[in-house]
Amino acid sequence: MTLKEIIALDKKYYLNTFGDRLPVCFTRGEGMKLWDLDGKVYYDFLAGIAVNALGHSHPALVNAIVEQAKKFIHCSNYYYIESQAKLAQLIVENSCCDKVFFANSGAEANEGAIKLARLYYRKKGFPEKFEIITLEKSFHGRTLATLAATGQEKYQKNYCPLTPKFLSVPMNDIYALDRAITEYTCAVMLEPIQGESGVNPANVDYIKQVRKLCNEKGILLIFDEVQCGLGRTGKMFAYEHFGVEPDIFTLAKALGGGFPIGALCAKEPVASAFEPGDHGSTFGGNPLACSAGYAALSTIINDRLYENSAVMGDYFIGKLNGLKEKYGIIKEVRGKGLMIGVEFFQPKAVEVKLKCLESGYLIGSVGDNIIRMLPPLIITKEDIDGFIAALDGILEKL
Ligand SMILES: Cc1ncc(COP(=O)(O)O)c(C=O)c1O
Repeated sequence: MTLKEIIALDKKYYLNTFGDRLPVCFTRGEGMKLWDLDGKVYYDFLAGIAVNALGHSHPALVNAIVEQAKKFIHCSNYYYIESQAKLAQLIVENSCCDKVFFANSGAEANEGAIKLARLYYRKKGFPEKFEIITLEKSFHGRTLATLAATGQEKYQKNYCPLTPKFLSVPMNDIYALDRAITEYTCAVMLEPIQGESGVNPANVDYIKQVRKLCNEKGILLIFDEVQCGLGRTGKMFAYEHFGVEPDIFTLAKALGGGFPIGALCAKEPVASAFEPGDHGSTFGGNPLACSAGYAALSTIINDRLYENSAVMGDYFIGKLNGLKEKYGIIKEVRGKGLMIGVEFFQPKAVEVKLKCLESGYLIGSVGDNIIRMLPPLIITKEDIDGFIAALDGILEKL
């Protein structure tokens, strides 16, 4: 089919919640590259929004999916699943958690975290401890509970009344958090590095104080590492940057390297609040998803891709700061590892994104003023140099 035909079909049949998509349709990918219908090559600096951590069509991931699909794809959580047990072990042995439950997406993993926090206190004899405090500008998903957790009105306003007992406070303001905590609070839930609002890392001191406050007040700390986890920020988990451990954290995006899977990860004794019948999923943790997850995660660990993320991230941010010196339009370059946002003084983000597309580079935009780069963790200096040269040319002509 031609691009025109595909667009016509899409417009007629697909329920459009994504607005005008970029006018390109990919046919194949390899490493950092994607090819469109005309054979034009694009360097993927967005990685499916922080998903394709290994780049495209990584042989370890492809083989794992093909081999498992040849054996069988799905059975049910009524039975023991080898790849599920192995993936849970891999996460536990490389993180601070003791138990893992698998979901199909980030929002679903977060729903599980919210349920677990509430149930933990209910089973301890405090059913009134129900409230969850989140941060302004956060993003936790599109389901009704995760929308209520998300501290951005634009996502919430059409769905009122929202699921009750969620409250957002400003990030990096420990007094605001302290004032918001009551006897009804069961958890604080936050992204240590916010993604969807344009890459905003929390202050290290703030996160340390949040951990301390949660300990003092006897409430749980949940980290949403759906976007910032699994090597993206230069460490295996973003919580490592802050010298604290959450009681619960969630994963998705990079976990399957492109195959949908999410995970709810919890320390004991919190994890054990979920007993048989308390939670579940038909598809979550199925053999195919967990085989993909095992291949993706073991590659991130064995190839130390989180280290490449740290080194390449520093290099990338350094080069972007070079462009900031050169062009007055750049207000700020921020991020950690390969989770990078560039804020402009003027509303030029969409224009820059489109010009990057024309030049064969895929990036994201957040609102009118911020562009976002979340490239695969396999990226090289040459890839970054190519992008910087293209962006330099674009900014020069803005
Ligand atoms: C931090 C964070 N949490 C949760 C989600 C929701 O994940 P999903 O779209 O897989 O439901 C996202 C998605 O962008 C995210 O960035």
